[in-house]
Amino acid sequence: MVCLGNICRSPLAEGILKSKVSENVYVDSAGTAAYHVGELPDKRSISVAKKYGIDLTNQRARKFTVKDFEAFDLIYAMDQSNYQNILSLSRNNEDEQKVQLILNKIDANSNQDVPDPYYGGNDGFENVYQLLDEACEIIASKIK
Ligand code: 4NP
Repeated sequence: MVCLGNICRSPLAEGILKSKVSENVYVDSAGTAAYHVGELPDKRSISVAKKYGIDLTNQRARKFTVKDFEAFDLIYAMDQSNYQNILSLSRNNEDEQKVQLILNKIDANSNQDVPDPYYGGNDGFENVYQLLDEACEIIASKIK
């Protein structure tokens, strides 16, 4: 699960997907930018997740690296900018094919972004939660 800062959207996506799959499915998140490396998720992400019984407080932000193409089978980008940034690190076709826009799981080829909630209010985080819950339900049902 990859966003820009790895403090708002992708920590939520990580927590939500983990809650829907078995423990032997390895789920992680990262950001394409390093601004917040080492930080806890944003308080507003922690709060909306907690409301739905998901704990994000063991997460710390990290930056996406080229090694992630080796560690993961599937890489979900939260928006088109993250998607392009991830692709710019890909080394071959196999890397490229692992990368998808997460909301295309809900509506294939719609190329919709999970809106960046960082500069907004709590409503934005609730909206992000609902979008990611729907997408992660589909991802989890295909992994099972
Ligand atoms: P995220 O949100 O990519 O969902 O973690 C953001 C977090 C931080 C910033 C931008 C977006 N920032 O500019 O610091």
